[in-house]
Amino acid sequence: MLSELEKLFGIQNPDWLMSAREKLGLIGLLHCLKPKRVLELGYHRGGATKWLSEFSEQVITVDVNEFVADAPNLFHQAEDWNSPTLEAAFCIKKEIYYLI
Ligand SMILES: C[S@@+](CC[C@H](N)C(=O)[O-])C[C@H]1O[C@@H](n2cnc3c(N)ncnc32)[C@H](O)[C@@H]1O
Repeated sequence: MLSELEKLFGIQNPDWLMSAREKLGLIGLLHCLKPKRVLELGYHRGGATKWLSEFSEQVITVDVNEFVADAPNLFHQAEDWNSPTLEAAFCIKKEIYYLI
């Protein structure tokens, strides 16, 4: 049933490591929130990044894996940070303080 739903909504993607419910929940949230900027912690192979970049002006996607470097070529709003989450959190915190 859920795989039928995935087919129906065109969200079948083996590179997207979310359940059908999570995928639909994320897309629903993106529709409602239409975020300007998104920080994704965990790119994997960009399954979710595709949708995040469709609904926002800028996506920063963070991962320790090497595939994250593909993100700017695949999704033009995406910026890749090849770093651990904690390091990215410190950078974001610094940036926020800088903006205030
Ligand atoms: C569940 S996958 C992300 C799924 C992806 N958002 C999607 O929707 O398909 C988790 C990712 O987090 C990355 N990861 C795990 N620990 C990390 C850490 N401490 N810092 C940065 N990335 C990490 C892994 O390399 C992996 O690609």
